[in-house]
Amino acid sequence: MTAVTVLSGKGGVAKTLWQVLMAGEASRLGIPTLIVDADPERNASTKFGVPAQSSGLGDVFEAAGALEGSAELDIDAGAERLGEEVLDTQWEDVDLVPAGSSLGAVAQASLIDTWLLRDLLERAGISSSYGLVLIDTGGRTGSLVAQAMYAADVAYAPIAPTRDAVRKALEARNRVGRIQRAHPLKWAGVVLSGFDLRVGMDEAIYEEARQEFGDEIRAVVPRRATVHEAFQLGERLGDRRDVSSSNLAVLFRDFMLELRRAGSESDASTEASA
Ligand SMILES: Nc1ncnc2c1ncn2[C@@H]1O[C@H](COP(=O)(O)OP(=O)(O)OP(=O)(O)O)[C@@H](O)[C@H]1O
Ligand SMILES: [Mg+2]
Repeated sequence: MTAVTVLSGKGGVAKTLWQVLMAGEASRLGIPTLIVDADPERNASTKFGVPAQSSGLGDVFEAAGALEGSAELDIDAGAERLGEEVLDTQWEDVDLVPAGSSLGAVAQASLIDTWLLRDLLERAGISSSYGLVLIDTGGRTGSLVAQAMYAADVAYAPIAPTRDAVRKALEARNRVGRIQRAHPLKWAGVVLSGFDLRVGMDEAIYEEARQEFGDEIRAVVPRRATVHEAFQLGERLGDRRDVSSSNLAVLFRDFMLELRRAGSESDASTEASA
C-alpha cells in the first residue's frame, strides 16, 4: 500500500482535483483506493455527496482522545471508529473517509502525537485492504497537514496558473525536506494543472515553474472544460467518451501509478535498512 498526500497552501491550486481524479483512474484500473479527507472544508467529501453534518475523520481523532490534548491516546478506540467511518463511493474500488463536521475543531487543537493518523490507519488494517490511500489536505491547517505528512509515504504539490502557486509548491518541497529527518516521506515533484500556454501570464508561471523545478515537473495538464466537469460532476475522467478526455485521463493515471511506484520503492528501502 502506498499513502499519498497532496501539499500546498490554501486556495484552489487543484489539490482536491488531483486526488479525486487520480482516485477515478485507480478505480478504472481496479486498484482498491481509500480517499481520506483531511481538509476541514471537506471539499472531497462533498464531491462524493457526503452531507455537511455527517461524521468522519474528526470523530476518529476525537475517539482516539486527541482533542483532550493529553498524551493518553486510545489508538484502539480511534482505529475502531476509523473502520466505522469508511464509506463506499459511487466508484468501484474507491472508499472514502469523509472529513466530518468536527474536523475543524481537530484542526484548531494542537495534536501532540504527529504519528497519530499513521498509527490509526495501521491499526485499522488499512494497508492490507487498500493498494492506495490518497489524503486530501487543506492549506491552512497546520496540525492536520503534519498528520497527513507523517501518515504518507509520498508527497507532491500541484501548481495552478496563479501568482503565488510556484511559491506555495516551493514551500511544500521545503516542508517535505524538513520532515525527512524524522520520517522518510518521498518528494514526488509537482504537477501543473489548468494552464493555457497561449496566455502570457500562464506561460510566465510555467517558465518560473520550469526554472524552479526542472524535471520535478511530472505532468502538465492543460485547462480543459472536461477536466473541470468530471471533477464537478464526480465522474471518472477516463469514462468520458471523447478522445481528449481519454488522453487527459492518461496524465492522471500515469502520475498515480508513478506515485505508487515511488511509495513501494520507499517500502523496499525501509526494509533494506531495517
Ligand atoms: N486542467 C484543468 N482544467 C480545467 N479546470 C481545472 C484544471 N485544473 C484545475 N482546474 C480547476 O481549478 C479548481 C481547483 O480546485 P480544487 O478544489 O481542486 O483546489 P484546491 O487546491 O483543493 O483548493 P483548496 O485549497 O480550497 O482545498 C477547480 O475548480 C478545477 O475545475
Ligand atoms: Mg481542496
